[in-house]
Amino acid sequence: MFYIKPKALFSCAFVSLLALQAGPIVAKEGMFTPDQLPEITKDLRKTGLKIKPSQLSNLTEFPMGAIISLGGCSASFVSDQGLVATNHHCSRGSVQFNSTEENNYLEDGFLAKSLEDELPAAPGSRVYVTKQVTDVTSAVLDGVKEGMSGEERFKVIEQNRKALLASCESDAGHRCQVSSFFGGAQYKLNKRLEIKDVRIVYSPADSVGRYGGDADNWLWPRHTGDFAFYRAYVSPNGEPAEFSKDNVPYKPEHSLKVSAKGIQEGDFVMVAGYPGSTSRYARLTEVKNVFDWTYPTWITLLENWISTIEQTAPEGSDARIKYEARLAGLNNFYKNLGGQVKGAKRVGLVDRRAQRENALNEWVANNDDGQGFAEAITALDALSEESAQVSRQQYWYRNVTRPSLLGAAKRLYRLSKESEKPDPERESGYQERDLTFFSEGMKSIDRRFDPAVDKAEWLMFIEGYLAQPKSQRVAAFDQMLGLTDEVDMAELSKRLDTFYSDTTLNSVDTRLALMSASATELENSSDPFIELAVALYDVDIAQENASKDRRGRYAVLEPQYMRAIINWQKAQGFTAYPDANSNLRVSYGNVMGGSPKDGLNYTAFTTLEGITEKDTGVAPFNAPKAQLKLIDEADYGSYELKSINSVPVNFMSDLDITGGNSGSATLNGKGELVGLVFDGTIESVNSDWDFDIAKTRAIHVDSRYMLWVMEKLDNAQFLIDEMDIVK
Ligand code: ARG
Repeated sequence: MFYIKPKALFSCAFVSLLALQAGPIVAKEGMFTPDQLPEITKDLRKTGLKIKPSQLSNLTEFPMGAIISLGGCSASFVSDQGLVATNHHCSRGSVQFNSTEENNYLEDGFLAKSLEDELPAAPGSRVYVTKQVTDVTSAVLDGVKEGMSGEERFKVIEQNRKALLASCESDAGHRCQVSSFFGGAQYKLNKRLEIKDVRIVYSPADSVGRYGGDADNWLWPRHTGDFAFYRAYVSPNGEPAEFSKDNVPYKPEHSLKVSAKGIQEGDFVMVAGYPGSTSRYARLTEVKNVFDWTYPTWITLLENWISTIEQTAPEGSDARIKYEARLAGLNNFYKNLGGQVKGAKRVGLVDRRAQRENALNEWVANNDDGQGFAEAITALDALSEESAQVSRQQYWYRNVTRPSLLGAAKRLYRLSKESEKPDPERESGYQERDLTFFSEGMKSIDRRFDPAVDKAEWLMFIEGYLAQPKSQRVAAFDQMLGLTDEVDMAELSKRLDTFYSDTTLNSVDTRLALMSASATELENSSDPFIELAVALYDVDIAQENASKDRRGRYAVLEPQYMRAIINWQKAQGFTAYPDANSNLRVSYGNVMGGSPKDGLNYTAFTTLEGITEKDTGVAPFNAPKAQLKLIDEADYGSYELKSINSVPVNFMSDLDITGGNSGSATLNGKGELVGLVFDGTIESVNSDWDFDIAKTRAIHVDSRYMLWVMEKLDNAQFLIDEMDIVK
């Protein structure tokens, strides 16, 4: 890091450092869209890519044709019979869905001995295969005129978006997506095959696939077998179809070869997947609001929230099973936020952002060429400030409207209102194309709902809400719950009880039946949650319209700001990449250890012996006895890495990833699968705002460990045989 000039140091906050040597301690910033890769050919080559960068731009060719999305997680095809590799933590919900007391697949693992034994994944599970990506910027912006109000502009853009989706999806079996890049400077239409019959093939036991559990989450050294396999099925004529016994495995046009040879320290690796969101270009105003207010507020709330659930759903209770996923999610978020706050301090995020903005301003002052960048940036900052104030203002109201059945009531009432309009004019989320997911949402509530826990959460949120100044309260809500200045909490608690005792929304049949209720019917309902939803409707719509208006204003200012950034970076020889937006990206770099803090070094690999070393016999450090025996006997099979005298379990790289990348294929320079990315270190999480080239490290499960577990522990040789293994 020492040889980076100060100027490069802050520009590297968000660009590919073509000019820099890829030294051993400098992490590789950049989540590039595949079409950008030819622009950075030189650096890709220098880092060790063997195939042509232009080959990676071709989304329907090898290897990108094998990279798929599960919606939320990433994955890849690893056989010509539709076999899908992803993370254990991505498919665990589906395994849980199929688990019973007698067949506890979480504890025992699951392996289908033949196609007939494969189990349907949880309802709503999908495999999305990208078929085509088109630049639709001018179609999305068609009809946008200068002088339009934010709300008008938002409407035009939204109508154009919906029209593009409708025409794209008129080709049956596809689910399309219009995404904005560079804050709306560019829009792309992604046409994806939507495979609806997804089945679980193999998921190692939690004691392997979740080894280390939440204790080890975000940490290194790591020994988690975070991998599992799904299979995609289609109708006998090859089209996406709902689950049916007659369906057959989908034959992907491309699948990845799996490397049994693996990588060594220093080798080139890249990750191809669907990172969710980053804020690398956020303005200082937003950064300050988030780190001074939003995150600290969340941290306090999460502490209360987690302990509320733990108290009302004690370990071993039936309620705990329903809330396990939520607890894991909240704990994951909590640990992440702690890491972000620490990381922001460590790198001096606020100062760095201020410096970067000054440098950009200076450049803009001399290079505007009549493009009005400076004015746009000033207006953008004012808008950022406005958004920050609104988000604080509405924070507690949003929390008190979280209860599951209130959420269901609100969505049902909205659906009844939207259904009065012709389909193309309905709010997105309530169109014909959305109703499958809508009803899945209505069904899945039961799996995650317990009235006592839900009520305890609600009471906790309301307490926080009541502690806020009156200006942050919503009169309609206060009135419906009888919240006055002096609320008797015991009284309130009793009142909330009546919501749960008098509602009929706790029945899935009722919820599904109400999907076809008219607005008038719901307005006449005496269900307490529906009454509350109806009473809050006008407030919610007013807030939503104001938010649309802001989004409409962002839609002119942000592209201006991002164009200034792109030009500024280009002038210095850098390629700016867009913030993550759940679209396909490629990150690349090398296998390497790191140093999280003074006096501590991370090695690049962990070993089988590390599992034994960590093992306590108690979850989450309870490796199967048979595995400990294999390790004790040093039974490495053909998967040993000589430099570490063992089978590598997990490895580290300096790649740029974030949430959503989970399950992404980690590829070597030839495009062969050498692992799956499943986490980042806690020191990396602040990179969502400001990439830390010194500390950022991604964590992968090694393909050799995957194969070793399959061959030696779980007797899944037949699955290995199905894949194309490179020795
Ligand atoms: N930290 C990972 C992420 O946010 C989630 C890992 C899940 N594993 C766990 N032990 N909770 O993507």
